[in-house]
Amino acid sequence: MSNVTLTINGRQVTVPAGTTVLEAAEKIGAFIPTFCYEKDLTAPGACRICVVEIEGWRNLPASCVTAVADGMVVHTESPAVVEARKTILELLVANHPLDCMTCEKSGNCKLQDYAYRYGITGTAFAGEKHAYRPDDSNPYIYRDLNKCILCGKCVATCNAVQERSVINFAYRGFNTKIATFLDTDLKDSECVYCNRCVAVCPVGAIVDKTMMGKGRTWELEKKQVTCTFCAAGCAFDVNYKNGKVVGVTAANAAAGRPLCLKGRLGVNLLYNPDCPEKPLIKKDGEFTEVSWEEALGIAPILEKINALTK
Ligand code: SF4
Ligand code: SF4
Ligand code: SF4
Ligand code: FES
Repeated sequence: MSNVTLTINGRQVTVPAGTTVLEAAEKIGAFIPTFCYEKDLTAPGACRICVVEIEGWRNLPASCVTAVADGMVVHTESPAVVEARKTILELLVANHPLDCMTCEKSGNCKLQDYAYRYGITGTAFAGEKHAYRPDDSNPYIYRDLNKCILCGKCVATCNAVQERSVINFAYRGFNTKIATFLDTDLKDSECVYCNRCVAVCPVGAIVDKTMMGKGRTWELEKKQVTCTFCAAGCAFDVNYKNGKVVGVTAANAAAGRPLCLKGRLGVNLLYNPDCPEKPLIKKDGEFTEVSWEEALGIAPILEKINALTK
């Protein structure tokens, strides 16, 4: 594949032909915000927050869907770019609850981060706001579509990764929303609560209900492990707060296997007071505490090894 050399913010970068401006900028560490783009998943070029200025171009193209060209001169944060991003953010924030103080996503929210970076307070445009009833119908996912910015990543991941297509865009114009078939609550849909959509949502519109109220995002530590509940061996992140497990999240938000409920909720067994501390085996109709060797069936093998090595 041939290479292309372009200039981004005064720095020359050489990348394979077909690379997007966004990917080329990432290569040299130039910041470009994104909402609807997710590596290996989706780049619909819909949200426009990733616009850049390219010398000689009349418009500000979306960098996530614009391929590099030889000799291209790109500015990722020129005054025109910043102005465009501010307008997009002001429009989003004008129809947003702005309850960052109690929002589970606070600290890990792209809208919050970009609003901070570009100094957006939500006072520029006054108008109608959505007033959707939050979907609290199931034990696993809390959906508050008043916070949705319609990036479409949940739709893409449910379709491409989970292959269920439980959710999609519905209605038109201001009323456009992400909905299940017939716009039911999640509990009445085909959702299997894999939480892939939760993992890719850039804001707090869909959150893991099992982790709500258990810690702010910046208080949590993540450790990647492999699930041992079945032979598939899914990778996921165990989330800790002060050394205590508070939940499980997907290790790779956009790719890989979806996590089943067994893998994500198995951590509940850790602190279940009803869990026996020692293994139990039924003997003469009664559960009796035994050693781990006996429970795992290795006691006879150990006896044989001991006999052979005497
Ligand atoms: S989704 Fe983000 S911007 Fe909206 S309330 Fe939550 S943290 Fe704040
Ligand atoms: S939890 Fe999984 S199945 Fe349910 S809507 Fe989200 S991605 Fe689709
Ligand atoms: S729910 Fe989240 S991921 Fe889905 S469209 Fe809205 S903001 Fe994007
Ligand atoms: S991130 Fe490029 S258009 Fe949305």
